[in-house]
Amino acid sequence: MNPKTYKKLVATELTTDFRAAATIVEAPFPEPGPGDVVVKNEFAGVNATDVNITAGRYDPGASLPFDLGAEASGVIVATGSAVKHVKEGDAVVTFNLGGGYRAYNVLPARHVIPVPAPSPEALTVAVSGLTASIALAVTGRMGKGETVLVTAAAGGTGQYAVQLAKLAGNHVVGTCGTSEKAEFLQSLGCDLVINYREENVKKVLRAEYPRGIDLVYESVGGALFDTCVRALALHGRLIIIGFISEYLEGPQPVRQPRIYAHLLQKSASVHAFFLPHFSKYYREHTARLFQLITDGSLRVAIDPTEFDGLEAVADAVDYLHSGKSMGKVVVRL
Ligand SMILES: NC(=O)c1ccc[n+]([C@@H]2O[C@H](COP(=O)([O-])OP(=O)(O)OC[C@H]3O[C@@H](n4cnc5c(N)ncnc54)[C@H](OP(=O)(O)O)[C@@H]3O)[C@@H](O)[C@H]2O)c1
Repeated sequence: MNPKTYKKLVATELTTDFRAAATIVEAPFPEPGPGDVVVKNEFAGVNATDVNITAGRYDPGASLPFDLGAEASGVIVATGSAVKHVKEGDAVVTFNLGGGYRAYNVLPARHVIPVPAPSPEALTVAVSGLTASIALAVTGRMGKGETVLVTAAAGGTGQYAVQLAKLAGNHVVGTCGTSEKAEFLQSLGCDLVINYREENVKKVLRAEYPRGIDLVYESVGGALFDTCVRALALHGRLIIIGFISEYLEGPQPVRQPRIYAHLLQKSASVHAFFLPHFSKYYREHTARLFQLITDGSLRVAIDPTEFDGLEAVADAVDYLHSGKSMGKVVVRL
């Protein structure tokens, strides 16, 4: 028996201070349209970009309040009259903006991904996994035998990028900020790990890779972005995945020579990647990622810190931004 109402998290203020922006509200239980399903969320993924969403950077025209969260895993509890390929009781992963931080989510049935059970691991495929898989293959044109650098490599999406680059037959370098994460990255097969709190990334890259880096999966921004651009090899590609170091305070003004000289000298390029612009690749890459996880070729780490309920989402977002998390941060709903 489904409840008459349920709780969800909405933004009531535009700010990167997630805690100040997020408010729990009660909403009527959603009626599915003919092609929709209602999913009872059990786990929701926490993302670095949650603070960009509350700041209104995803949709500058959006009016308050708006729903928060993105990917989740759960169980279908109601279906519309035209829904055929899934049924009540099926476990699914979902990914829609505003669909994560809520007890129930209504969405088109064609957008759910059936999975064996609603687990934290399963939901990591939806944002973290797809971003790494599509960005490396499509935007980065990743080959084999290349040198691939992944920043924030022990994070939710970084762990996927490291493993996918290794599986493709590349030499992989990962950056991280603690010795525990460095060990984790070694266990994932990283050929070289640079703990940026202990070593100078620029110096290590210059010494170890005088020819330069072929492909960079860059999530941190700031000075590390500058270092990565300068480290590119002939025909090197850098993919801007994010710039977490500037999310909370906003972009830093910089006074230095423009990057085109570095790029031109190497015929190198900088590309940006934003997952929703690549939806036509979701099906193919989702299938491949689940296959790799099922056959044991790819391992997904979930940060062990427990966050329970909508009340704990702000703590989870703060924790992700503290730099302490390792693997994917997940909230149990
Ligand atoms: N473009 C897209 O479509 C897309 C999709 C998903 C994620 N992303 C981006 O991918 C990046 C990682 O996101 P995620 O959700 O998977 O987070 P995450 O990597 O699980 O967590 C963030 C990590 O960033 C690292 N970091 C480095 N400098 C930091 C700083 N100044 N402040 C805070 N953390 C810092 C920390 O690890 P270390 O200190 O160990 O490096 C931290 O653990 C973000 O930039 C995010 O926006 C983009």
